[in-house]
Parts: sequence; C-alpha cells; structure tokens
Amino acid sequence: MKYDFDTIIDRRGTGSVRWDNARKKYGEPELIPLTTADMDFKVPPSVRDAICKAADFGIFGYTQPKDSYYEAVAERLERRSGWKVERSWIMYSAGIVGAIAYCVQGMTEPGDGVALVEPVYHPFSHIIEDNGRVVRYGHLNQALDPAKIDFDGLETVLAEPGTKMLLFCNPHNPIGRVWTEAEMERVWALCVKYGVILVSDEIHSDIIFTGNHFCSAGPVMERLGGKEQLVVCTAASKTFNIAGLQCSAILIPGEKLREKYREILMRQHFMEMNAIGPAATEAAYRNGQEWLDELMDYLEENRDYAARFIDEQIPGMRAVVPEATYLMWIDCRQLGMTDEELECFLVHRAKVALNVGSAFGPGGAGYVRLNFGISRVLLAEALERIRRSVLEMKHG
Ligand SMILES: Cc1ncc(COP(=O)(O)O)c(C=O)c1O
Repeated sequence: MKYDFDTIIDRRGTGSVRWDNARKKYGEPELIPLTTADMDFKVPPSVRDAICKAADFGIFGYTQPKDSYYEAVAERLERRSGWKVERSWIMYSAGIVGAIAYCVQGMTEPGDGVALVEPVYHPFSHIIEDNGRVVRYGHLNQALDPAKIDFDGLETVLAEPGTKMLLFCNPHNPIGRVWTEAEMERVWALCVKYGVILVSDEIHSDIIFTGNHFCSAGPVMERLGGKEQLVVCTAASKTFNIAGLQCSAILIPGEKLREKYREILMRQHFMEMNAIGPAATEAAYRNGQEWLDELMDYLEENRDYAARFIDEQIPGMRAVVPEATYLMWIDCRQLGMTDEELECFLVHRAKVALNVGSAFGPGGAGYVRLNFGISRVLLAEALERIRRSVLEMKHG
C-alpha cells in the first residue's frame, strides 16, 4: 500500500466533533468514539497540496468557486454516475444537511408532509420537524436480507394529501444499502406519480464496495422524466475526509426548482462557501483516485473484519454487512436491552461510543451504528472491548 491508513493519529484536543464531543458528553476519558461519520485518515497528498497552495497565497477574501471546480464536479458525476449535468444546475451549500434544510424551507410550506424511509440518517426528521413540516414515515423491511424498502407503505405515504417531498438516502445511511437501478426507478416513479419532490442525498456514493453498482437518481430522472421534481446532493466530504471544509454540490436540473433554492439562499443571505473547500474538492476529484482505490480496499477489509468478529465472537450482536459507506448497522436485539441501557453499557462498561439505533427512527430500536473509517488496530481494540464486556455481562 502506498498510503498509510494504519497509523493511529491522535485527534483528541483538535476540536474533532467525534473525538472531543463524545468524551465531554460521556465523561469517559478512555472512550473510543465510533459515532459521527468522518474518518481518522489523512486526506490524499493532492488534496493537502491544494490546501497548502491556497494557504500560501495568503489572502482569504470573499471567493467564489472557479470554473474549474464546476468542471471537476460535472466530470466526476459523468464518470461515476453516467449523469451529464449542465454547469448551471450545480448550486452550492456548505454542508448537505444545510442544503436539505434549504430545500425543505424553499420548496415546501409549513404543515406540509415530508416523507422519509426509516431508519435513516437522523437529521432528516429533525430538519422536517424544526421547520414546522410533518414527518411522514416510510419504512425499511429489515427482516429481509438485504433490507428492502416497503414500497406499498411508501406509496401510501407519498399518496397522502399534503406530502410534498421525499428525503432519500442513496446509498443508505445507516443500513448501507446501495439501491439498485430497479429500486431507484420505483422510488422515482412513485415521486413522479404523486408530484412529490425527491431530494436524493448521495453523499456516500463514492464509497461503494465490490459487487455493488451505485445508481444515481439523476440518470433515472433523465430516462423517465420529471425534471422539476429532483434535487441531488453530493460532495467530496465523506469520501476524501474533508467534511470540515464545508463544500457541497447541489444538483437541481429543473429551472423552477432551482429558482426556489436560489431564493431561499438569498433569503438566508448565504452568498459564498469558504475559500478553501472548492479547491480541495477539485483536487480530490481530479487527483484523488489512487488514494480512494486504496482507501476502499482498506475499508472493505475493515468491514469484513468487523462483521466476522461481531458475528463469531460477540454473542447477541449480528452485523448487517454494508454494501456502501464506512458505517455498520449492528443488530443487538438479542442482548435484550433498551437503547438507553445499550448506550450506557457500551459507553461506561465497554468504553466505546456507537450511535444508538432509535435515533434513526422507530425501526432502529435495538440496533447500533459503528463507524469503521478508522485504523484497523483501533477497530480491533474497540471490538475487543465490546466482546469482553458482553461476555462479562453474560457470565455474571
Ligand atoms: C446521509 C448523510 N447526509 C449528510 C451528512 C452530513 O453532511 P454535511 O456534513 O455535508 O452536512 C451525513 C453525515 O454523516 C450523512 O451520512
């Protein structure tokens, strides 16, 4: 391997949300936090060089992304998803959560229904509720392997009067599904049938494991029509570990919908992203592939290692092997604890913090989510801590 993913880099005291906040929150100094979705790896050298070059320039006045940034985003989408986008479709946002909030604010009205397919990335429901809209729950059928969308239930929710938007995670956080083309076409067809805007959060779309094929909502829309109902959110942030640089690309092909997004940005007086994020994104997209290929090998080995360890050595836990993302959904229902008890047990006994499943929706109860975007040695230590604590608990 040319790139080093093994060395443990101490992020404590750097302001890292995952490392510093979890320790403060739980008061456990030895805690290994495997929660928030960023990785413990250094970015590709090309990205660091681009950031250093920008830093060396030494002026950080108001800056708009250069044409070359937009070209890099468009080229990436075409290469990875086969979606040919026009420059004018690419809107900006700092983060994708923010962009989704703008979509909810600008494209729906207070009191409208906004659907999601739960369990799903928890900010979705918070955005809906915090903006006075109503969460309409679609569900995953987790009894199936792999889990599937309950399409009949989703249709009922989308057909309900007042449902205006579907917030959809593709690939899916937390269960790690890469939706197939057939599944994406079905989701899209339902949105078109009921006049519902699809906001497809594709932030994890570059982290796809062997044997799976990512299908963006963009090309599906191109084939089936419905331009004015689609927003696709993407970024280099998860893939290249630059979430802190706050630079996202929001693809809105429909002119009227785009105008609504622009209006809400203007109403917030949100005019520019930071001066460094687009340069880092461009460098990642243009020159980060070799690093990404090695990262994917490393993550796939981490995934397989963690899944095997959990299934074979931790009684009461079962890994749901993700097809994408560096997040693993783990079924802990056999442990017989409530989510509060599970959180307390993991944090204070095993000294490992994981996200508890009920945060992702009612169907998440009894599950936890583990971030394996970390060095293998640390992953092994975290899993061993959990194994030891479970065995101690079981043997009194
Ligand atoms: C599905 C999904 N969307 C959005 C985000 C966060 O995006 P941002 O930091 O750009 O707001 C995450 C982070 O974990 C995520 O998993």
